[in-house]
Amino acid sequence: MRRLFPVTDVTDATTAPASDGVPGTPGTKDVAREWGLDELAEAYAYPPGAAGSEGPEPWLRANMVSTLDGAAQHDGRSQPISSAADMRIFGTLRGLADVVIVGAETVRQEGYRPARAREDFAARRAAAGQGPAPAIAVVSASLDLDFSLRLFTSPLLPTLLLTGAAAAPDRIAAAEKAGARVVIAGGGVGVEPARAVRALAGLGLRRLLTEGGPRLLGQLVAADVLDELCLTVSPMLTVGDAQRIAGGPSVAVPSRFELTSLLEEDGFLFSRYRRT
Ligand SMILES: NC(=O)c1ccc[n+]([C@@H]2O[C@H](COP(=O)([O-])OP(=O)(O)OC[C@H]3O[C@@H](n4cnc5c(N)ncnc54)[C@H](OP(=O)(O)O)[C@@H]3O)[C@@H](O)[C@H]2O)c1
Repeated sequence: MRRLFPVTDVTDATTAPASDGVPGTPGTKDVAREWGLDELAEAYAYPPGAAGSEGPEPWLRANMVSTLDGAAQHDGRSQPISSAADMRIFGTLRGLADVVIVGAETVRQEGYRPARAREDFAARRAAAGQGPAPAIAVVSASLDLDFSLRLFTSPLLPTLLLTGAAAAPDRIAAAEKAGARVVIAGGGVGVEPARAVRALAGLGLRRLLTEGGPRLLGQLVAADVLDELCLTVSPMLTVGDAQRIAGGPSVAVPSRFELTSLLEEDGFLFSRYRRT
C-alpha cells in the first residue's frame, strides 16, 4: 500500500528511479509496503468533531468498489472485483463505524452476516465510546428478508430494520420476534434518507457507513445526505450490464465531491472523496 495523495514527504513529487528500463513516474516514489490496521484506521478516521460522541452532526460515508468500466458487481456480487487490500479497508471502515447501513437486496444477494468484534479495533472503539462492533441497519420496504439468518438471530448488537410506516405489521412482528429492532424512518412504504440519518443519530449512531447497494446509494446521493465516498477502483474490465455504484433517477445538478485521499496497492486505487 502506498499513498499517492495528499503528497507527503514519503510520496516524493520527484521522478522515481527508472526500473526495468521504464522511466519513473512523478509522484510515485513512495515505497509500497503492507499497512497495519492502525495505520489504515488513522487514514480513514471520521472527521474530528463531525461524528464524535460530542459532535451534533452525523457523518455518512459510503464504501463501494467499481471496475474501470463502472461495474459494481460481477455475477451478482462485489467479491470478484475486490482484493485483499480492499477487504482490509472494508474491515477498517466497519471497525470505525457505529452502524453499517445496507439495502435489503445486498443482504439477500451477498448473504450478510453480523459484524464481528475485532480485537484489532477494540481499544480504538472503547476510547471512542463505541460498542465492540457496528450494528447493521437493513433498509427495506417489503421486509421480505429471511429472519432466521444469523444477521437477525445472533448479532452482537440487535440488527436494525429501517422501513416506512406502511410496512406490513406481520413482517414487523416477524422481524421483532427474531430479535431485530424496527425503526420507522418514512411516512409511507419506503424510507426517507434524511429521516433515516436523523433516526440513527437519535439512537446515538453518528458515525454512519453505508455499503450500498447501488439503488440505496442512489437515493442517499439524490437526498444529499452523503458526506463522503470511499471508492475502490478495481483494475478490471467486465463489460456486461452490471449496475454502477449508484442507480436510480439522475440528480438535477451533479453532486460535487473533492478528493481527500488516494492510496494504491496492486493497481487498485482506494480513494476518499468528501462533499464540497
Ligand atoms: N460494488 C459495491 O461496492 C457493491 C456494494 C453493495 C452491493 N453491491 C451489489 O449490488 C447488488 C445489490 O444492489 P441493489 O442496488 O440491487 O440493491 P440494494 O440497494 O442493496 O437494495 C435495494 C433494496 O433496498 C430496499 N430499499 C432501497 N431503498 C429503500 C427505501 N428508500 N425505502 C425502503 N427500502 C428501500 C428495498 O428493499 P425491499 O425490496 O426489501 O423493499 C430495495 O429492493 C448486488 O449485486 C451486490 O453485490 C455492490
